[in-house]
Amino acid sequence: MTFPLRPFLPTDTIALADILREAVYDLASEDYDEDQRVAWMSTVNDEDAFGQRLASQLTLVALDAGEPAGFISLRDNAHIDMIYVLPGFAREGAGTDLIEAIMKIAAARGAETLTADVSDNAKPFFEAFDFVPEKRNMVMIDEEYLGNTTMRKALTDKARAAMNAARDEAMRGKS
Ligand SMILES: CC(C)(COP(=O)(O)OP(=O)(O)OC[C@H]1O[C@@H](n2cnc3c(N)ncnc32)[C@H](O)[C@@H]1OP(=O)(O)O)[C@@H](O)C(=O)NCCC(=O)NCCS
Repeated sequence: MTFPLRPFLPTDTIALADILREAVYDLASEDYDEDQRVAWMSTVNDEDAFGQRLASQLTLVALDAGEPAGFISLRDNAHIDMIYVLPGFAREGAGTDLIEAIMKIAAARGAETLTADVSDNAKPFFEAFDFVPEKRNMVMIDEEYLGNTTMRKALTDKARAAMNAARDEAMRGKS
């Protein structure tokens, strides 16, 4: 299935907050307990702040029958801040359409690599696009600790060579 994409509009804010809440509640349930997911969902309770966060980044919305089915946001042409898809559309390719568009735009604007702080449930998705783990993080939200992994993808041959060299160097350091 292919999902048409368009840029974020301020009037999308409530729909995108609902997508985030539903995606976290359903799709992250194997890796984060209910208290952790409720804390994560609370990050969009202040809808004005959430709308400003979306508007301050490059945010694309995936549509189904004209309605938002998922979204992605890119900060500073370097870091994927958010990607969420409604559970009813999971594994239908909306995430693929969103991340491929963002990778293309970021590369065209001169990005060498892209990073994302990836939740445990989303790791296989990012791995499918050749993001590689860099470091483990622990984030505290509302007194709950949530683990995630910073992952990086090379967008150019030069960046790929530099990432491979850094990996080889780290392996040599371990042996
Ligand atoms: C991560 C997320 C955006 C993926 O969106 P999606 O539309 O389901 O992804 P796609 O259908 O485009 O999947 C593309 C590929 O990624 C991989 N993939 C995606 N979800 C996966 C899963 N749950 N388990 C294993 N592989 C997965 C597969 O290789 C898949 O291809 P396939 O379906 O042909 O096997 C969605 O699962 C989501 O909203 N998750 C909850 C929120 C979240 O954790 N966001 C990330 C914050 S860092």
